[in-house]
This record gives sequence, structure tokens and C-alpha cells, in this order.
Amino acid sequence: MTMKLLLSEKKIQQRVGALARQISKDFSGRELLMVGVLKGAFVFLADLARKMKVPVKIDFVRLASYGSGTCSSGKIRFTKDLEVPLKGKDVLIVEDIIDTGVTLKYLYRCLRARRPRSLIVVTLLDKPRRRKVPFQADYTGFHIPDHFVVGYGLDCAEEYRNLGGIYIVK
Ligand code: IMP
Ligand code: MG
Repeated sequence: MTMKLLLSEKKIQQRVGALARQISKDFSGRELLMVGVLKGAFVFLADLARKMKVPVKIDFVRLASYGSGTCSSGKIRFTKDLEVPLKGKDVLIVEDIIDTGVTLKYLYRCLRARRPRSLIVVTLLDKPRRRKVPFQADYTGFHIPDHFVVGYGLDCAEEYRNLGGIYIVK
């Protein structure tokens, strides 16, 4: 297996800072509940949260697709749900990467039904060419080509989540 650098740690940190400034500006005077999608988003959420200029609270969900393998069957369930109600809150879903769009479409619909005041999505990475269901994030860090990537929270068989940069694996 070979790894090729796609996004350096410096480039990621600059972009995360810009996203935090933009979201803070758009939600100025409000408080955001950041909802991280485990496990991949934990690094992005940690950096983004510390750069936000508005007050934030943090919670996590974990989702799993039925069946196994890398091919998303389209059937998703919560393996860990939120611990707080969303009603009346400004909620920011924080995701590492949008691939087919199946996960976020499901999560968005579930959380929307809980009647938050607003519900928006930030994703660090987007592979738009892989989409199977239409889904667009409100804020996107980087659009990337259709390659499998690791690092900065993203894994390959649970490895490489702790790398500071993002790498294409081949
Ligand atoms: P989807 O949008 O429902 O296909 O699923 C997105 C999820 O698949 C992400 O939250 C990641 O956990 C995982 N994923 C998709 N592409 C990659 C990748 O290139 N590297 C690591 N994980 C990925
Ligand atoms: Mg994920």
C-alpha cells in the first residue's frame, strides 16, 4: 500500500480556520450545538470547535449501515444517538467526508424531525462524483477527486486516523 499526500496539515488547519470564521459570522449572536458523526469526524470537530467564535455545545452520533463491506446498502441505523434534545436549537452536523451521501441524507432527515431551530451541515471533504443520493453540505472544506483517503480522523481498517494530513491510499 502506498500513501500520497493530498492535503497538508497546514492547508487543513487554514481551511478549518476559515470555515470556523464563516460559520461563526453566519451564526453570530447564537449558540450552536455541534453534532459530530463518529468516528471519522472527531479530529475535525475538535479543531473546528476550538476555532469557533460563538458559544458551542458538543454531542456525537454514531451510525452504521446494515450488512458489511464498503458498499453502502442504503439502510442505516444509529448505534449511538444524541444525549440532548434538539428542539429549538441551532444544530451543526459535523462530518468528515460525504461520499455516496446516503449517511448524511438519513441523519439529516432524522435530526430534522426533532424540530431544531436550524439544521446545517459542515463537511471537511466532499467526493461529489461518488454521490448516489443528492446531498449538499452548507459548508465544505475541500472537494476532492474520487480516491480513498486516510488521516485527520479518516481511517482504513481503523488505522491512520491520527495523521495530521490527508493521504490518498493505493
Ligand atoms: P456515505 O456518504 O454514506 O457514502 O458515507 C460516508 C462515510 O463513509 C464517511 O463518513 C466515512 O466514514 C466513509 N468514507 C467515505 N469515503 C471515505 C474515504 O475516502 N476514506 C475513509 N472513509 C471514507
Ligand atoms: Mg464518517
